[in-house]
Formats: sequence, structure tokens, C-alpha cells
Amino acid sequence: MRLINTTAVITGAGSGYGAALVRRFAAEGARVACVDIHLDSAQRVAEELKSGGGEALALPCDVADSASVGRMVAAVREHWGGFNALVNNAALTQKPARIAKTSEEDLDRLLAVNIKSLYHMAVHALPVMRQGGGGNVINIASVTGIRPRPGMTWYNATKSAMISITQSMAAELATDRIRVNAIAPAAGLTPMFESMFGESLESGIEQVLKTIPLGRLCQPEDIASAAVYLASEEASFVTGVVLPVDGGRLVG
Ligand SMILES: NC(=O)c1ccc[n+]([C@@H]2O[C@H](COP(=O)([O-])OP(=O)(O)OC[C@H]3O[C@@H](n4cnc5c(N)ncnc54)[C@H](O)[C@@H]3O)[C@@H](O)[C@H]2O)c1
Repeated sequence: MRLINTTAVITGAGSGYGAALVRRFAAEGARVACVDIHLDSAQRVAEELKSGGGEALALPCDVADSASVGRMVAAVREHWGGFNALVNNAALTQKPARIAKTSEEDLDRLLAVNIKSLYHMAVHALPVMRQGGGGNVINIASVTGIRPRPGMTWYNATKSAMISITQSMAAELATDRIRVNAIAPAAGLTPMFESMFGESLESGIEQVLKTIPLGRLCQPEDIASAAVYLASEEASFVTGVVLPVDGGRLVG
């Protein structure tokens, strides 16, 4: 077990990559706070862990809302005294659209959930990690933040910003013994991906597959494996990196 001394907060835990992250962290011995805006889905995943003998806590939280993040952090603190790993995984995507066709309202929500959430975590979660002697943060970005696809300008931009914030935070937080890394996944068949393509899902998959040299979509377990490494002691000298888990999309 590689995460035996880890207490992790994982956001967006109820679905897709987040649910896989939670399961793998627990399988590696971590205690996991399963955080999601939809409490029922976080509870389902947490119950699954508990019935397998794991230690889990399900908490509702809108990562775009400072007070909500503050309440979530306080609840984890009350339950376990603190935490030493944080995975910022919750995010929204956008409907494929030409640049000016995304509504201002949708843009504001996208920025709040995907970017401002990192600020709220910096305000509420980092002090807890600092006081506990350090830890590590993993930000789930996207290859589209490095190599964009057309029609996804605003989502791509949030992921580029996340990568920049990862690097800046890594530089600043090293003296606090907090490592900060990002994972850049390629497309995977999760509810987010399905909602993006709607009825044109099959042609969307076909289009995406042409751009991935290893010839398959990303599996949630691919992301979970990379995150376990980054959270573990094996990565104790690794900070500020952006790890593509993308089947070679960046070199294709
Ligand atoms: N699926 C892909 O193709 C893909 C590709 C690259 C990167 N990513 C990234 O991986 C991460 C996970 O994506 P996924 O595909 O598993 O998505 P998903 O939609 O399946 O899951 C996202 C989870 O986040 C939760 N959530 C949404 N808004 C929230 C909020 N404001 N506060 C708290 N929780 C909230 C949702 O309820 C959901 O459980 C995201 O950061 C996404 O950008 C996904």
C-alpha cells in the first residue's frame, strides 16, 4: 500500500475520473473525503469504500463557493484533524461552440468552478495542510490546456490557467513542504465527455480517437494510477510537473 499515511480530499468524487481516484486512493490505504456538489453521488462512492473496509467521508461542496469550501474543509478537520493530500478534480466543460457563442453566464460559471475554486482551496485548504506539516496537491487539468481543440476555447483556457497556477503554487509552496503537480488527461468516456457531445457522441469518439496515437480513450484508472504515484512517497522530489496521461496525443 502506497498511501498508508495519507488523508485525502478529492473533489468531483461522485463520477468519472473522480470516482476512480477515490477508489484507488482507498485501495492504497488512504482515508478519503469524497467531495461533490451532488452529495448523493459522493455518498454512493463513500459507502462503497466503507463496505470494503476503507475509511471514507462524503461531503457536499460547491468548489466555486468560498463558504461551501470553508465548511467542507472544517468538516474534514473535525473528523480527521486535517489532511495531507488534495485532488482538485471537480470541473465543468463547455458545449463545443465558436469563440463568441458561449454565453457570458456559462463563461462565468466555468471560470468559477474550474479556476476560482483553486483560490478558494488556497484560502481554506492550504493552511490546514501547512499546519499539518505539508502534503501534496494534484490538479486534474487536461491536454487541451496544452494542445487545444477548436470550439473549446474557454474550457481549454481554464485548463491552461490551472497548469500555470500549478507551477506557480509549486514554486511558492515548496518551503511549506507542499508539492503541487498536475495531470493532463486525454479524453475519456465519462459523463462530462458524454454531455459535451450529446447526440453526436459516436462521431465525437471517432474524431478524438484519430488524435490519440495509442488508439484508445483514457480510462479513469489511467488517471488514478498517475495520481497515486504523484501522491506517494515515490514522488517526494517531484513538484511543479504537468504529467500528460494522453496516449501520446501531445506527440501525435
Ligand atoms: N473526461 C474527459 O474527457 C476529460 C479529459 C481531460 C480532462 N478531464 C478533467 O478530468 C476531471 C474529471 O472529469 P470527468 O470527466 O470525470 O467529469 P464528470 O462530469 O464525470 O465528473 C465531474 C464531477 O465533478 C462534480 N462537480 C461539478 N461541479 C462541481 C462543483 N462546482 N463543486 C463540486 N463538484 C462539482 C460533478 O458532480 C461530478 O461528480 C475534470 O477536471 C475534467 O476537466 C476530463
